[in-house]
Amino acid sequence: METKQPTIDDWRKAGEIAARARDFAAKLAKPNTLLLDIADKVEQKILDDGAITGFPANLSLNTIAAHYTPHVNDQTILTKEHVLKIDIGACMNGAIGDTALTVDLTGKYEKLVESSHQALANVTKLLQKETIKTTLGDIGKTIQETIESYGYKPVMNLSGHGIGTYEIHKTPSFPNYNNNNKQRITVGQTFAVEPFATDGAGKIKEGTNPNIFEPIERKPIRDSNARAVFTEIMDKYKGLPFAKRWLISQKLNEQRIDSALRMLKANGNIISHSPLVEVANGIVTQAEHTYLVEEDKVVCLTR
Ligand code: CO
Repeated sequence: METKQPTIDDWRKAGEIAARARDFAAKLAKPNTLLLDIADKVEQKILDDGAITGFPANLSLNTIAAHYTPHVNDQTILTKEHVLKIDIGACMNGAIGDTALTVDLTGKYEKLVESSHQALANVTKLLQKETIKTTLGDIGKTIQETIESYGYKPVMNLSGHGIGTYEIHKTPSFPNYNNNNKQRITVGQTFAVEPFATDGAGKIKEGTNPNIFEPIERKPIRDSNARAVFTEIMDKYKGLPFAKRWLISQKLNEQRIDSALRMLKANGNIISHSPLVEVANGIVTQAEHTYLVEEDKVVCLTR
């Protein structure tokens, strides 16, 4: 794994490129658009802007809170029945910007969208005011109170996360409710806060059919096909999460990819991330920013 630490400038660039890709995706998100087209274009934009993808474009609809990315030949088309969460990651020399917003194509969930976006805006305000005095519990409390003031529930078992070098999720967790955690943020820390709001039960469970995978360990792989696929993954995506559709090529058809991914999972080299579904089939909305803690201030890297 890469050991060189990214610079502050890398963090700023990663944040800016992720924010640009997020806003570009929001512009593309119109009825009659193929979800797969949005994913392809947005991921290409991240590469064109000089970064690599921090993870596959998450384009999750309605009751799916997160972790849906179009599969190979995905035929899902956006309609006026859709509430779309766009969650984007861009990586610059190991620094990662992670950011999300929600687009409501129905016209019926304006307040539910506003509740998660406002919760994030209130966290940004809190961080700017309290800086390094801010505790993880304060952040959760702000999110919970804001979302509840709209009459909705925060999703309790999803949380924001620390971000490390080529590491999209690391400790600590940043709760979406007041868990009374007195731990403070620390200088030099980079992290993402991501309020999720729902008109359902406030909880998600794992669905089926994962299309997002993530390397967890480099250990010996017996099968040559699986080994070749793993080498390519580590070269191209630097240990970051990847989509199955990225691996399809003239050399490697879907069957060979499936077989390799199955073996890599069984061997403990990778894990899969299934779509996360609201347990009471509530509609879910999301907003997310990445922050960097400096000596005397907290900077939002994704605008
Ligand atoms: Co995140």
